[in-house]
Amino acid sequence: MDARRTQLWQAMGLGPIYRLRGATTQPSVTSEAARPAIDRAAAIARLDWKELRQEVAGCRACTLCETRKQTVFGVGNANAEWMLIGEAPGAEEDARGEPFVGQAGRLLDNMLASIGMSREGQTPKSVYIANVLKCRPPGNRNPQPEEVAKCEPFLLRQIELVAPALIVVMGRFAAQSLLGTDASIASLRGKPHWINVAGRQIPVVVTYHPAYLLRNLIDKEKSWADLCLARTVHTAD
Ligand code: URA
Repeated sequence: MDARRTQLWQAMGLGPIYRLRGATTQPSVTSEAARPAIDRAAAIARLDWKELRQEVAGCRACTLCETRKQTVFGVGNANAEWMLIGEAPGAEEDARGEPFVGQAGRLLDNMLASIGMSREGQTPKSVYIANVLKCRPPGNRNPQPEEVAKCEPFLLRQIELVAPALIVVMGRFAAQSLLGTDASIASLRGKPHWINVAGRQIPVVVTYHPAYLLRNLIDKEKSWADLCLARTVHTAD
């Protein structure tokens, strides 16, 4: 097990929840101290869309609730074939309550448009977009392991409810969190990975974060290659 995922599980006070879901090995014996986190994750895993949205909106599980303007749940087609996952809301998302509405979001929309996809509508070409964290880290600092641990059950439930045929994960932080790895984005790109959510194997394609692309135009070409790879793994139609 890699260090990053161990750190996350420890922050949750949990044995390996991914192992429980994926059932690849036997779970470790659960301590009494871990029960509340397990109970919380299990309760979240039973919520429907409306309940999940309400739970996120009222969440006070970590200190980010003290500085956020509002939570940023997710947007798009709840039955999308493609689900896109970013890191955390920035200032504009915190103000508007929707993921990727700032400059990076406009680039993301343009990238999606270039392959005929969009966050609008309810067609097979309509994606669902969410973040690892539902609250803005102050000053856009990096998310902390305990924040990710508290928010992870929300994202897992969103993935389970959308049941996408493909996940595109954007940026190093989201890729490492979702895949449970410390590997660099360069080494993660270029091939599909697989995650198991609630017993479903889902392919994951890793690409650069749009905010990174705004600063590193040269890598836009690589992100185009990533979208082409994603289409090879699953074409929505
Ligand atoms: N960056 C992200 O990762 N998510 C957003 O919603 C906005 C910027």
